[in-house]
Amino acid sequence: MALLYAALLLMFLIHSSISVDAPKIGPFQFSGELDVGMRAIVVCAAMTGEPPFHFTWFKDGHKLIDTLGVSIKKFDDFTSNLVIAKVEADSNGNYTCKVSNSAGYDQKSAVLSVKGI
Ligand SMILES: *[C@@H]1O[C@H](CO)[C@@H](O)[C@H](O)[C@H]1NC(C)=O
Repeated sequence: MALLYAALLLMFLIHSSISVDAPKIGPFQFSGELDVGMRAIVVCAAMTGEPPFHFTWFKDGHKLIDTLGVSIKKFDDFTSNLVIAKVEADSNGNYTCKVSNSAGYDQKSAVLSVKGI
């Protein structure tokens, strides 16, 4: 009997891990009209797959953290916001959002380019 339960539990576990899909991120991009001092906001959203998701942001391959002027907030189960309070020359770069869950991950990038710099 115990063996039967163990087998059923195993089948359940296998089935539930198979039914979790890896996330796919929807496209995002920065405004092409960013002047120095403006606010830049992008939203990274997992369009498919099951939460819990883990969001990580990178700038030119380096992990971005919540610091003065850069705010990373998980908005809900499916989305994470990146807000740069005032863009400047240093803000230029290639920003990547990576989303993972138990089944896998996806990542998408967008280039921020401050006008005239
Ligand atoms: C931005 O970074 C991603 C991930 O590293 C890379 O695949 C992509 O080619 C980069 N895009 C540009 C325009 O450099």
